[in-house]
Amino acid sequence: MSEAKSILEIRDLTVKLSNGVTALEGINIDVKQKDLIALIGPNGAGKSTLLKAILGLIKPTSGSVTLFGSKDLSKNLKYVGYVPQSAQARDPNLPFSVYETVLLGRTPVAGLLHGMGAKDREKVDETLKMFGIYELKDRKIGQLSGGQSQRVFLAKAMVAEPKLLLLDEPTSGVDTSSKKEFYNILDKLNKERGITVILSSHDIGVITKIANRVLCLNRSQFFCGENEDFQADIEIHKLYEHPVELMEHHDHP
Ligand SMILES: Nc1ncnc2c1ncn2[C@@H]1O[C@H](COP(=O)(O)OP(=O)(O)O)[C@@H](O)[C@H]1O
Ligand SMILES: [Mg+2]
Repeated sequence: MSEAKSILEIRDLTVKLSNGVTALEGINIDVKQKDLIALIGPNGAGKSTLLKAILGLIKPTSGSVTLFGSKDLSKNLKYVGYVPQSAQARDPNLPFSVYETVLLGRTPVAGLLHGMGAKDREKVDETLKMFGIYELKDRKIGQLSGGQSQRVFLAKAMVAEPKLLLLDEPTSGVDTSSKKEFYNILDKLNKERGITVILSSHDIGVITKIANRVLCLNRSQFFCGENEDFQADIEIHKLYEHPVELMEHHDHP
């Protein structure tokens, strides 16, 4: 088979929230192994809701999500790494060290009953080094810069060796050089390790450089396709250069 393995299939996904708001409507995408998908759209577009629906944290009102070939999402969650929006620690008194935080990310693999073994600690060390945060391992996470804590939370997600990585606005509140470094790491994980990534962001310029595909939504789907086609689509481009004016006219309840 020449076709890359299907990681995720979303069919006609509609999500109505309990307050009656339709957060997503008619979303369709097939994610293949080694895709790096840029999930873009203005605030309130439904990006976080979509990631939560993939994780089974929010139930679809209609349509379906199939993860690694199964509609039972919990079955394959061990292959998924997730960094929620604003994961960076805000509380300077948070008692966890960098090492402990990343070690916790290993729980899905190690299992709660067996506890962490030498292999898990080895993996934590390797991951800390890979993300350039080994020398920070004894620092408390609440005392790191935005860019440093962002790398810690990515390391925490990666230490369980996921096949699919879901990142929700990972670069918000992070300075420009940390952002660049972060995208370099992601690019490497994707190209060299073959990790499939879905990355939600406002940072359209940078992500369309490393993404091979783009899903642009504002409750409903505006564009889903190859990065080059997205860049070449004048109408979408215009739309995105004026996202507030044009996208907010979209009938939002
Ligand atoms: N917990 C919630 N309760 C009620 N409405 C919510 C909740 N979370 C999100 N929403 C609404 O759902 C829509 C989509 O939000 P969200 O997925 O967070 O968008 P984005 O991540 O693109 O900013 C918005 O209209 C938002 O106000
Ligand atoms: Mg969001």
